[in-house]
Amino acid sequence: MKKRPLIAGNWKMYKTASEAVTLVQTLKAAAHTVSNVTIVICPPFTALSEVSKVLNDTSINLGAQNMYCAPEGAFTGEISPTMLKDSGCRYVILGHSERRQYFKEDDILIHEKVKTALKYSIIPIVCVGETLAERDAKKHFDVVKTQFDESIGRLEKEDIAKVVIAYEPVWAIGTGKTATPDQAEQMHSYIRRLLNERYSQEIGSRISILYGGSVKPDNTRSLMEKPNIDGALVGGASLKAESFAQIIQEAQQTYESGNHS
Ligand code: 13P
Repeated sequence: MKKRPLIAGNWKMYKTASEAVTLVQTLKAAAHTVSNVTIVICPPFTALSEVSKVLNDTSINLGAQNMYCAPEGAFTGEISPTMLKDSGCRYVILGHSERRQYFKEDDILIHEKVKTALKYSIIPIVCVGETLAERDAKKHFDVVKTQFDESIGRLEKEDIAKVVIAYEPVWAIGTGKTATPDQAEQMHSYIRRLLNERYSQEIGSRISILYGGSVKPDNTRSLMEKPNIDGALVGGASLKAESFAQIIQEAQQTYESGNHS
């Protein structure tokens, strides 16, 4: 059985608070007919509170793009889980490849952040994925296994069950070069296997594994039809209400038609 899909929009460092409010108002209107998809949007920190007010009477969830692993303290420039909750966040993206690449985040720090998010009842969307060089060297499964082991593989059973995983091959992010549905499915089923072996089949089947990397309205269906792809983490195409709403509609239709390949 396919799970109810989760479609998350990662707005990255785009949109001022007022631009974010305009976008989310349009999205709200476009998404009001959607009932079978969990929708999450992750605007920049500075827009969270304003966007949260607009989302108040909707089923669209709010998420952040990062978080520090302490509830408060002398950590200049960082944002805590209590601040995120106060701004209306239910989700947080952790370990995005851009955080790993440009801000030198490693799996040890990501693991601490994941534990902290869970402690404060924020659902972490934990990103894993290989670079092109790693794939070309046929190391992609090893790379993802290490990221899995070190960032989430040591969590207790009751904690891992609350995590969402996003497989985002770095070479597919913002490049227009999507992994083929078969390439994505191969990695998703590998991650599912890691979960089944490390925890249990029951837990493995409960966890949503999202695909991210150049997801667009016209490739959503072929990705979502795959048995182990439970949703998408969308970058560029989530910055326009129309394309993000189309992706959500595609996910809903695929789910409702029970399509698998
Ligand atoms: P794009 O959809 O722009 O490739 O970005 C994917 C991503 O990084 C989502 O977190």
